[in-house]
Amino acid sequence: MQFLLNQQLITVSHLDPNMTVLNYLREEKQRCGTKEGCASGDCGACTVVVASLEEDKLHYETVNSCLTLVSALHGKQLITVEDLQEGQHLHPVQQAMVDNHASQCGFCTPGFVMSLFALMKHGGSAGHTETELALAGNLCRCTGYRPILQAASDIVSQGMSQDQFLRHQALTKKQLHAIQTPEIQILQQGERIGYLPQNMTQLAGLYLQHPDAVLVAGGTDLSLAITQSRQRFPVLVALSHVPELKHCYRQGGSLFIGAGASLTTVAAFLAQHIPATGAFFTRFASLQIRNQGTVGGNLANASPIGDCAPMLLAMDAQLLLQCGEQQRHLPLEEFFTGYRQTRLRPGEFIRSVIIPSVTLSQKTTLHKVSKRIDDDISAVFAAITISADHQGRADHVRVAFGGMAATPCRAYRCEAVLSGQVITAALIEQACAALSEDFQPLSDFRASAGYRRDVAANLLRRWYFRYSDPSDLTEITDYVS
Ligand SMILES: Cc1cc2nc3c(=O)[nH]c(=O)nc-3n(C[C@H](O)[C@H](O)[C@H](O)COP(=O)(O)OP(=O)(O)OC[C@H]3O[C@@H](n4cnc5c(N)ncnc54)[C@H](O)[C@@H]3O)c2cc1C
Ligand code: FES
Ligand code: FES
Repeated sequence: MQFLLNQQLITVSHLDPNMTVLNYLREEKQRCGTKEGCASGDCGACTVVVASLEEDKLHYETVNSCLTLVSALHGKQLITVEDLQEGQHLHPVQQAMVDNHASQCGFCTPGFVMSLFALMKHGGSAGHTETELALAGNLCRCTGYRPILQAASDIVSQGMSQDQFLRHQALTKKQLHAIQTPEIQILQQGERIGYLPQNMTQLAGLYLQHPDAVLVAGGTDLSLAITQSRQRFPVLVALSHVPELKHCYRQGGSLFIGAGASLTTVAAFLAQHIPATGAFFTRFASLQIRNQGTVGGNLANASPIGDCAPMLLAMDAQLLLQCGEQQRHLPLEEFFTGYRQTRLRPGEFIRSVIIPSVTLSQKTTLHKVSKRIDDDISAVFAAITISADHQGRADHVRVAFGGMAATPCRAYRCEAVLSGQVITAALIEQACAALSEDFQPLSDFRASAGYRRDVAANLLRRWYFRYSDPSDLTEITDYVS
């Protein structure tokens, strides 16, 4: 496989496919500017920028190098903090950090600098909210965020877009064009092998041939097994270079989401069609994770607290699964069979997620309850789609939760209470009571069972307050900043 490390062409074939970009940089390239804080995607110290060619434009995105496997870099440009300074001159982003005294021990600084660099590369007039979203995946334990935000504000307000990456962009594009390949790429070290299929046919054939292989999409979930549990996978198949897996489009009123599309891409696509999803995705992990993680990975890991599943359950989503050349459709509500278990067969993968046209005319409300606003896992996630006919009778009801059972699932008893009835405060109380028959949630370090039960019922009541008086709406996120 090949990629650019700044402007230098790197070719690798003899490398453990389990290796993260962070370890590659520090151990193989002695580039120790990129730091390891948590090795689990939570602190942002390891943030690097990956530039990719999209419709002949360079697109710069931050990722957590501690969770990104080297295989993800094929055909892309990797930029680390060492690449920013030119001779004696700091990059404008670094200079803004210095000018604002935005660094003390400096451990977090390379990560902040790279997040700010990507923000600058996105150009334009990033507002306060966009800046906060860009930095939500970066923690600082000493400086305090005010000077860092001030540095960000200086960069954005002064329109600091001129730098060596802009000057070199024609050359970079030429170099990246030259390393796009149609052949399967391979990384191998000893017994461990990683395949990088370049199209759907190669992927389907390879996975059928190696059904025991482990698929890696963004790796934001899978890599935790490598960095936290020291697991090593003998055969890995990378999904990140299969263009067909990334397509998101609307057809015949339905929405098709490629399983390998990044959460950032999916967020932008869905927001055009289902506005309620826009605010939800800003609460999903951090920008670095959303740039790398995929919707397919979020469903296939079958986590009881995965956020996409309840949202998609409330939208009657279907999955398109593929095994070799065979494809089949499966309603998402039949996909999960138990804690981290799915109906995927050996050699089968998720190709796309389909949101049927019926959902687009309905209003879906999404609520994520977690201990922090940014970069936190849900204690409870509620997705509620209820539409009423002209007499106020609920004619389409979907109520789905994450965090309430071993898998994300619909609250069928609650739905039955509401369906076909005129929605009143008294009916909502009956539906809340039915929720306790639907779910017997667990207590864990995120929340107790009692808390989860109360929150779930309160979210349904909240839905009703909004339904009965849309003007009377307070969002917690409206006043935290
Ligand atoms: C700091 C942090 C914060 C997070 N916050 C959230 C959050 O707020 N909400 C949330 O829901 N999750 C969160 N996650 C979990 C994770 O980021 C998401 O689940 C993400 O969507 C996983 O996607 P991925 O592409 O990285 O999956 P990967 O790690 O690549 O894969 C996950 C699993 O899915 C399988 N897989 C991947 N793609 C396919 C496919 N197309 N077909 C079949 N199998 C496949 C893989 O084999 C693997 O078993 C967080 C993770 C971290 C580290
Ligand atoms: S080291 Fe903390 S996010 Fe990567
Ligand atoms: S300057 Fe020390 S952690 Fe940020």
